[in-house]
Amino acid sequence: MRYLVVGAGGHAQEVAWSLSEHERVRGSSCELLFFDDALAPGPLASGLGAIVGPLDAVADHADRRGSSLVLGVGRPQLKVQLTERLGATGLPWATVIHPRATIGPNVEIGAGSYVAAGAIVTVNVRIGVFATINMHAQVAHDGVVEAFATLHPDAHVAGQVRIGEGAELGTGAAVIPGLTIGAWAVLGAGAVAVESLEGGRTYVGVPARPIAPAARRSA
Ligand SMILES: CC(C)(COP(=O)(O)OP(=O)(O)OC[C@H]1O[C@@H](n2cnc3c(N)ncnc32)[C@H](O)[C@@H]1OP(=O)(O)O)[C@@H](O)C(=O)NCCC(=O)NCCS
Repeated sequence: MRYLVVGAGGHAQEVAWSLSEHERVRGSSCELLFFDDALAPGPLASGLGAIVGPLDAVADHADRRGSSLVLGVGRPQLKVQLTERLGATGLPWATVIHPRATIGPNVEIGAGSYVAAGAIVTVNVRIGVFATINMHAQVAHDGVVEAFATLHPDAHVAGQVRIGEGAELGTGAAVIPGLTIGAWAVLGAGAVAVESLEGGRTYVGVPARPIAPAARRSA
């Protein structure tokens, strides 16, 4: 199988490594081609493959059957931009699940999503398209993680929590049971949500409290 990886930074290489581990466990091989607007073409130090060129070069490699796109970025807004930009290629997006992620019964994972090594998704969970459940993040029973949302490493979501579209939970953030995190909200690293959070705002601390938008803070 041939994979065209969108992005070539550290996160993209982690996603690609997870994919190659998954294929290796299945006894399959995979070819990884990386594309990035900000990095020069050439082989990657990780040995996973080489940067072929900028994102516009993906189209030159999109004609072969058996190729899929791999989303190599984790920031929600960037995921939206890149999936819209690459949608014209018509290629399918790979769903990447590291073989050492733990996925329980009755869990749906949308196309283009990434579940990293050590992540745990327990039972009766619905994960939308292009979601990121990074290393050692946890989503407990009856949870919903909407499209484009990102749980950074070690973010812990208790049972019956809904994470809205494009919401971002920083490293080590936690959400107690039954809450809703609004769409495009950001919960800072180490923050603990103890009540539902409105969408589109940034929250930090324990318990999590909103901070003012950056423009107003600097005024
Ligand atoms: C919450 C966050 C998004 C805020 O970023 P920002 O909008 O650029 O905000 P700033 O860095 O300007 O910080 C604003 C204020 O919030 C405080 N703050 C920022 N992040 C905080 C956090 N996680 N916990 C507690 N306070 C925090 C800052 O100290 C600052 O306080 P001050 O106004 O008293 O000086 C960011 O700090 C964060 O935690 N991101 C998570 C990133 C992450 O986990 N990435 C994982 C990559 S694998």
